[in-house]
Amino acid sequence: MDSPWINITEASCFIQKKYAPPDVRTAIILGSGLGALADELQSPRIVETAFIPHWPTSTVSGHKGRLIFGELDGTPLLVVQGRVHYYEGYQMDRVVFPVRVLAQLGIRNLIVTNAAGALNPEFSPGDLMIIEDHINLMGTNPLIGPNEDNRGPRFPDMSEPYNRAFIQTMEKAALELDIPIQKGVLAVTHGPTYETAAEVKMLRTLGGDAVCMSTVPEVIAAVHLGLRNLGISCITNMATGLSDSKLSHSEVELTAGIARDKFIRLIRKIIPTLDII
Ligand code: HPA
Repeated sequence: MDSPWINITEASCFIQKKYAPPDVRTAIILGSGLGALADELQSPRIVETAFIPHWPTSTVSGHKGRLIFGELDGTPLLVVQGRVHYYEGYQMDRVVFPVRVLAQLGIRNLIVTNAAGALNPEFSPGDLMIIEDHINLMGTNPLIGPNEDNRGPRFPDMSEPYNRAFIQTMEKAALELDIPIQKGVLAVTHGPTYETAAEVKMLRTLGGDAVCMSTVPEVIAAVHLGLRNLGISCITNMATGLSDSKLSHSEVELTAGIARDKFIRLIRKIIPTLDII
């Protein structure tokens, strides 16, 4: 075993020994401004990620480092508050470290969320978008390097990075709750600059509906490990050139807060069903 996997085993053993997590199969990674879902958990057991060996710590406002084990209306759920990003200077194996630990803890269903800018002019700030597929424009890939063949294939198939049944479940839940929801392709750049107007035109031409600076590496690592993924983007702004306003992280966090209630209602509805799909 090479060292990244030893570190992953150390981290998961630490969590298991110290906090004896319940039998939890679904985890959700909360993006900018969406951390409030954690407050909805019953019988929460909080693990500060600063204490977990090798766990990377985020430097970005709005990204608290916590794992919260609990139940959402009777279904065990692990909430991950705070992710690290490639633009913070972390190597890709550090960016995807949490996902690999989650898999080792027995997680099989992964919900990834993020704040994103709309490339699709039909979208509006405050919309939620189910991620149907992605375009990786980070210029790198978290699976570069030696492959651990007993964990996942050297050349993973990417025909269904976001589980089709999960997408349908989410669409049905939105319909039943009468919550309008968008669906589309997420483009990812490494940031940390927001895009120029010319880059936004390019990303739209390439087929993107929304753009963000996270999530895709985690999804790639999760596909490699055989996890089933559901991705939700919170559209926090129109991407550069699609509106007159200048972009700022505080605006992104504020708008994500506006979408919070419908996000929580949707997640509440789908969580109990994911493990039986
Ligand atoms: N671009 C990239 N990432 C983002 C944006 C954006 O406009 N908004 C929130 N995250």
